[in-house]
Amino acid sequence: MSRIAYVNGRFVPKSEAVVHIEDRGYQFADAVYEVWALFDGKLADPEGHFARLERSLGELAIDMPMSRAALTAVLKETVRRNRIREGLVYLQVSRGVAKRDHAFPAPGTPPSVVVTVSRVDRVATEARAAKGVSVVTSPENRWGRCDIKTVGLLPNALAKQKAREVGAVEAWFVDELGLVTEGASSNAWIVDRDGVLRTRDTQANILRGVTRLSLIDVAREAGLKVEERPFTPDEARAAKEAFITGAGTLVLPVIAVDGKPVGDGAPGPVAMKLRRLYIERAKATAV
Ligand code: PDD
Repeated sequence: MSRIAYVNGRFVPKSEAVVHIEDRGYQFADAVYEVWALFDGKLADPEGHFARLERSLGELAIDMPMSRAALTAVLKETVRRNRIREGLVYLQVSRGVAKRDHAFPAPGTPPSVVVTVSRVDRVATEARAAKGVSVVTSPENRWGRCDIKTVGLLPNALAKQKAREVGAVEAWFVDELGLVTEGASSNAWIVDRDGVLRTRDTQANILRGVTRLSLIDVAREAGLKVEERPFTPDEARAAKEAFITGAGTLVLPVIAVDGKPVGDGAPGPVAMKLRRLYIERAKATAV
């Protein structure tokens, strides 16, 4: 199995793929990233991910390293060279390499661009979805700009590790009002007692998940009511269903929060149906 990365204009074996020690992504987490689900060799939700990439870069005043068309070609060529059909595509764009100084380097410093592809075992992930997963809660302790998809993910990594240590798959951050913001690498949802889908609004300090946005459409097209309204962990446990969304998890049923069951403790019909509908749509619109 070949494992090829794209690094600043070159396709190289992953084992030889390196970035400079004074890359600002490494020194200051001064970098943004995107992750696309890959279905049959094609990128899911292309428009949503490119739009968010451009927005994240714009918020940090980092130049788009190349046009969307050129970037798409690089992503697809990396996929092709890795011979992966089902997986995840990771793109990172940093402010580039410069002598260590907190303030920005000289204008014209080229951004660093890295692309990698990893394989996903769809049989295993479908089996996991059919069983459902547990989440644990964690106090919200991230910076105030989680809407920008930066690689500054230390609080997310620490929360995820805590989850892993107790056999949970995700950590849900809970803010000072006792409301769930989102997961460490996913958005959080419930199907409440009235059958209404609820997920945190984007006025809150959360990432505007591309899967979240597509799923709002999918759910409404399926005749479901969706409200961008927060919920507490107690409300999640009392809900009919809960689930998470993201490029990695797609739509994944949550069956327990902090060790206590959600609803009857099994994946619910709404989450499973939305998973199927989301995947169908993502496959149909992938490029
Ligand atoms: N994570 N919230 C956070 C904090 C995330 O990191 C992610 C994605 C999401 C879901 O966003 P989307 O639907 O656009 O994937 C929400 C990616 C998959 C990751 O870090 O690997």
